[in-house]
Amino acid sequence: MEIRYRTRFAVDDTALSRLHARAFDYAETPFAWGRVLGQPATVTFVGAFLGADLVGFAQARRTDPGQAGLLDVAVDPDRQRRGIGLALVRHVIRDVEAAGLSRLLVEFEPPLSEFYFGRCGFSRRDATTGVRWLSRPQPPV
Ligand SMILES: CC(C)(COP(=O)(O)OP(=O)(O)OC[C@H]1O[C@@H](n2cnc3c(N)ncnc32)[C@H](O)[C@@H]1OP(=O)(O)O)[C@@H](O)C(=O)NCCC(=O)NCCS
Repeated sequence: MEIRYRTRFAVDDTALSRLHARAFDYAETPFAWGRVLGQPATVTFVGAFLGADLVGFAQARRTDPGQAGLLDVAVDPDRQRRGIGLALVRHVIRDVEAAGLSRLLVEFEPPLSEFYFGRCGFSRRDATTGVRWLSRPQPPV
C-alpha cells in the first residue's frame, strides 16, 4: 500500500502520541497534539499515512523572524529506512519555504548526521545542529 502525505491533517491525539512514543522510545503519554499544532507558531505539520494509520510525522514551528525549527520528526520503528523520514522533511521544507521563511534549523543526535546533512540537505552548524537555507518564493511576473 502506498504511503500518503497529508499537511495539516485532522490530528488524532492518541495516534500521534502513540507514534511519537514508539519512535522516540518512551512510555506512551497522552498529549494534546491538536491543541499545540493549532497554535500560531506552527508553520506546518505533515503526517505519513498507510491507509488510515499514522506512520510518520514532522512539524516546523516559527522560532525567530524568518526562522523555523524542525521538530518531532518521527517514523514508526516498523516503517523506518523506507524513505518516509526523508519525504516528511522534504514536505516540511517545501511548506516553510512557501511560508516565506529563509531558514529551517534542526538539532539531532550524532547518529543522524547522515540523515540530516547527507540526505535532507542541511548545512552543518556544528556536529548536531543543521541549517537549511531557503530561497524566498518569487512573486509571479
Ligand atoms: C530519524 C528518522 C525520522 C528517519 O526516518 P526514516 O524514514 O527511517 O529515514 P529514511 O528512510 O528517509 O532515511 C533516508 C536515509 O537517511 C539515512 N538515515 C536514516 N536513518 C538513519 C539512522 N538511524 N542512522 C543512520 N542513517 C540514517 C540513511 O542514509 C537513509 O538511507 P538508507 O536507508 O538508504 O541508508 C527515524 O529513524 C526516526 O523516527 N527515528 C526516531 C526519532 C528521531 O530520532 N527523530 C529525529 C529527531 S531530530
